Amino acid sequence: MNLEQLKREIQGCKKCDLAHGRTNIVFGCGNEKAKLMLIGEGPGRDEDLQGIPFVGAAGQLLNKVLEAAEINREKIYIANIVKCRPPGNRVPNRKEAAACLPWLWRQLEIIRPRIVVLLGSTALKNLIRPDALITKLRGKWMESKSGIKIMPTYHPAALLRDPSKKKLVWEDFKKIRDEYKKIMNEVS
Ligand code: URA
Repeated sequence: MNLEQLKREIQGCKKCDLAHGRTNIVFGCGNEKAKLMLIGEGPGRDEDLQGIPFVGAAGQLLNKVLEAAEINREKIYIANIVKCRPPGNRVPNRKEAAACLPWLWRQLEIIRPRIVVLLGSTALKNLIRPDALITKLRGKWMESKSGIKIMPTYHPAALLRDPSKKKLVWEDFKKIRDEYKKIMNEVS
């Protein structure tokens, strides 16, 4: 199974009510062999229209952070907790996230990244534990049972609302950059 096959399988998905309001399923984008994967919350308006994650205002800011950290967006993989836009950009609920997560697990199985960055509270709560706090855990490395290094940080949309968080995210991305460089050196 590869990403293209999985993407075909997801077409027409009606596993939750978000299917009704979507223009496009935002499957994910990037490199199938990525060592680094970023996971956000869910598509916004621009992403829903284009079918690509992080292309709106938060995406522009994310691009700047990646550029500053010398991380090439095309070499990594970017996906979300839910693949269809929640109405009015609300946070996806537990039922929607639970319905969509098996797709993300399968993407992770195919890509097998060495580092996963959780962008914001929704990714953290759905992938680590429901009571996890982004304010407490951001910037701290965790490790999955299979040895994936996991780093939560603030969502770029949170930086748009509160620019004082930019400094903290940059601290986190310096750690991510260093680990990513180390891994890229190992595999090259
Ligand atoms: N916010 C997200 O969490 N994901 C996107 O793809 C865009 C904005």
